[in-house]
Formats: sequence, C-alpha cells, structure tokens
Amino acid sequence: MGKKQPEWLEQALFYEIYPQSFMDTNGDGIGDFQGIIEKLDYILELGCNAIWMNPCFASPFMDAGYDISDYYMAAPRYGTNDDLKRLFEEVHKRNMHILLDLVPGHTSSEHQWFQESMKAEKNEYTDRYVWTDTVWTEPKGMGCLRGISDRDGSCVVNFFSHQPALNYGFYQPEEVWQQSMEDEGPLATIEELKNIMRFWLSLGCDGFRVDMAGSLVKNDVEGKGTIRLWQNIRGFLDQEFPDAAMVSEWGEPDKSLQGGFHMDFLLHFGPSHYNDLFRCDEPYFSSRGKGDATAFVKKYIENYEKSEKKGLICIPSGNHDMLRLTHFIKGDELRVAFAFLLSMPGAPFIYYGDEIGMHYIEGLTSLEGGYERTGSRTPMQWNHKVNAGFSTAPADRLYLPIDSAADYPDAESQMADPDSLRNEIKNLIAFRKKNPALQNCSEIEFLQSGYPLVYKRSCETQSMLVIINPAGKACTVDLPEKAAILYTIGGNAGIQDGKCQVDGTTAVFIEI
Ligand code: GLC
Ligand code: CA
Repeated sequence: MGKKQPEWLEQALFYEIYPQSFMDTNGDGIGDFQGIIEKLDYILELGCNAIWMNPCFASPFMDAGYDISDYYMAAPRYGTNDDLKRLFEEVHKRNMHILLDLVPGHTSSEHQWFQESMKAEKNEYTDRYVWTDTVWTEPKGMGCLRGISDRDGSCVVNFFSHQPALNYGFYQPEEVWQQSMEDEGPLATIEELKNIMRFWLSLGCDGFRVDMAGSLVKNDVEGKGTIRLWQNIRGFLDQEFPDAAMVSEWGEPDKSLQGGFHMDFLLHFGPSHYNDLFRCDEPYFSSRGKGDATAFVKKYIENYEKSEKKGLICIPSGNHDMLRLTHFIKGDELRVAFAFLLSMPGAPFIYYGDEIGMHYIEGLTSLEGGYERTGSRTPMQWNHKVNAGFSTAPADRLYLPIDSAADYPDAESQMADPDSLRNEIKNLIAFRKKNPALQNCSEIEFLQSGYPLVYKRSCETQSMLVIINPAGKACTVDLPEKAAILYTIGGNAGIQDGKCQVDGTTAVFIEI
C-alpha cells in the first residue's frame, strides 16, 4: 500500500449522516448544519468518533446533492460555509473527525462549467467534460446527454442523465474525440479537483469519502489509469495534507489502496456478496438459517490478501443507497448482525438511524432522485414528540414523512432502555474499543463459514474468537484449551469440555 494512514483511522468508528434528514433547527423541514452540531454529543455517546456526511454543496438536488452546481459553496438550505466551518470546529472540540463527500466524476448539468462547455465557441470549459465530436456520435457503452447544446457533440454522463462526466481522459483513446489522460483538458480537471479538496481541507474537514472513485478515467477496464490519477492526488495530499483521510466508493481494495486511498467500502453491488449477508431473500443473518456466507467469505479473504492483510475494507450497516437492514432482519437477528459488523476489521460505518432499527418506509414517491432509496432516507426519529423531534415545521413540509408506525423506534426511549438495540450497539462499540484484537487494523482469520461463522481476530497483545450464529438453532464449536467468554449477544453461551455451546441467534466473543 505504501501510504501510512492517519493515526486516527486506527480507532475510527463512523456514523453516516444524510444531512437532509438528520436534524432541522430552523423549522424549514430540512436538516441543517446547526442540527448536526446539536446532535454531535448523541453520536459521541453512542461511541462513534467520526462522521461521513453526504454531499452538502450547492445543487439542484436531482440526485440528493450528488449533482453539484458549485463545489465551493455549502448548500444554502443547510447553512453557509461559515456554519460548515463551525461544524468542523465543534467536531474537533470533541476529538471527532468528519469526512465530506467528494463527487469527482460528474457535476449537475446546471453547473456553470457545463453551461460554458455546451457553448459552440471554444472556452476554458470546452474540455472539462467528455464530449463526442458530433451530436450523432454516441459514445459506445456509456450514456450520454445530447440535443441540448449549441455545441455539436454528445456529452458522456456518469450516472443519471443530468450528471455529465468530468473529463479525466481515456486510458487508451480509440476515437478521434477521446482525449488521453495527459491532454490539457483532463490535466486541468485534476488541478481543479485538487483546488476543491484544498479548499475544504483548509477550512477544516478531515478528508473525503469519494463517490464512484473508480469511474474517472474512461475505457479503463483494469483501472490502471484511474489508479494513476489517484496516485497523482495522493502526491498532492502527501505534500499539503498528509493527515487527510480518504475512503473510496470503489469496492476493489487492491486498486483503491494502490491509488493511495486508506480505506475502501464493501459495496452492495458488484462482486462483494455483501447482499448475501443482509439483503436478499434468504440473508445469512436471518434466523431461518437458510442463507450462505461462503461466497462472501471467499471474496472477502481474496480482497484482504490483495490489500496486504490491511484491515481497511469497511463494511457499512447500510447507507443512503440501500434498503434499511430492518427490511430483511429483526430482533436478535439484527443484534447478531451488529456483533459481526462491529467485530470485523476496517472502520465500521453505521448509517444514521440503523442504531435504533429505523424502518425502510415503503411506498414513498421518489424524492431528489432517490427512487427505491427514498424509503431509507426519512427523518431521524429522535423521540415521540412532534415530527419525532426532527423539525418544528408542519408535517406536510418535512423533507420526507416520519415513519407512520405508531410504535416507530426512537432514540430517546432506546437510550433510556438498557435492553434496547441502541444500547446493545453502544456496548458493542465500547467492547471493541476495549479489546485491541477487535480493532480496525487487527488481523482476521476465518475458521468456519457456514452456520455458525467463526473467525479469529488478533493483534500482538490479544486473540479473540468470534462465533456468529444467526440461525435459530444452537451449535457447538471446539475451543482451544485456554478460553474465556467475554461477551454474549442474543441468547446464551457456555463452555463445557473444551467446547462452546451457543444458543440460536446468538453471537459470542471468547478470549483465547
Ligand atoms: C454514489 C452515491 C449515490 C449517487 C451516485 C451518483 O453511488 O452513493 O447516492 O446517486 O453515486 O453520484
Ligand atoms: Ca433546516
């Protein structure tokens, strides 16, 4: 990997905030920076010490802010740049860290750069995006936007059709209109990206979660060009901001870590088999016990070996792009899933509201390009007062409606109840912090991958056996001679004759 990671990442536990839905303090029905500031102590109390905040920049919000119209300006609905700076300061006062969401692959079609780029006359932004030579030329294998510019050409898009792709060049240009990575346009785009990063890092953010990090260079099947591009950025960071943390939405840690990222996400799409565990007809974590974790484990080990056994593959509880966990598993199943999530290597990421088991809300009309993701983006449920304590706006002015279930889960009641999911997660986090074998950079070795899943976590000073038994059926696991149960979740577990007897839907941590 080559790159030394900022020290704070070794102990980092992240909480993902979707700013729209976290906490509204000015009564307009939309979350804001001040709301996040007011809830920092809540996050800290849970045990998380780092935050990833979804895009909070000026945007027409046709993709929840992943369609940026000004990289240098906070979205006015959340506050000003000064408010955002104050958020950074409040985070740091608490010894916490915060990552902003960097969207380097595309902008909103409303961005001024794109408006300029669409003009027929050549200008500074002509080559800021990937354009074909005539409007009748469709880029092969890529979506495009066309027929809306005076300029004669089609513009490649990166995601939705209102998100034109920024131009970082083609790894191996094949058509006349395809520029190389060394052409002037692509080089200027990289310099602008550095300016954006410089701007926010100077204002006090601690690094970035990078959106679609593997998508930048086109026709780059093996990712070699994109790796080279990120190495260029890494050089800049090493010189100017060596403590900035970088997490990629890439899902191929061998590539992203080579590119100088410190951590990569396990994604819910592509080859990770993440969904086998949590989100499919028979998830591994269901007590039905019909799931299968073997493909996941195989792929995980492959990536772990490729990343030189650096535990930097981050497994999220969920995020703004997937259905909430509770749509698939419930009760003790959830607790056992968190025992897994909070005992794997890499920095854990908890999606806001997952710690109280917020529901996926069905049947909502798509908002801000959410489509089926919309049901996972509803306001945080702080209590059982008006609008669940999220906002003082009239209910029909809220960003999205509050869960209509009368017994919706809320933070306040769960904090008061020692047996709540939130307190289980809080205890698990404290347990992880107390036991070095379970932390971000300690090693993992899988011993069994059916039911139960058994793995050994270890570092120089400690070894821990983790038994994860989601199935509703008890199981028995052979133990080494010296073994002591430290923590059990779900049902019970006991040691007898060198074996551990574990109840159904139970997880157990054993020091060995
Ligand atoms: C990432 C984001 C997602 C967004 C897409 C386009 O996958 O997580 O929310 O829609 O990129 O930027
Ligand atoms: Ca607000």
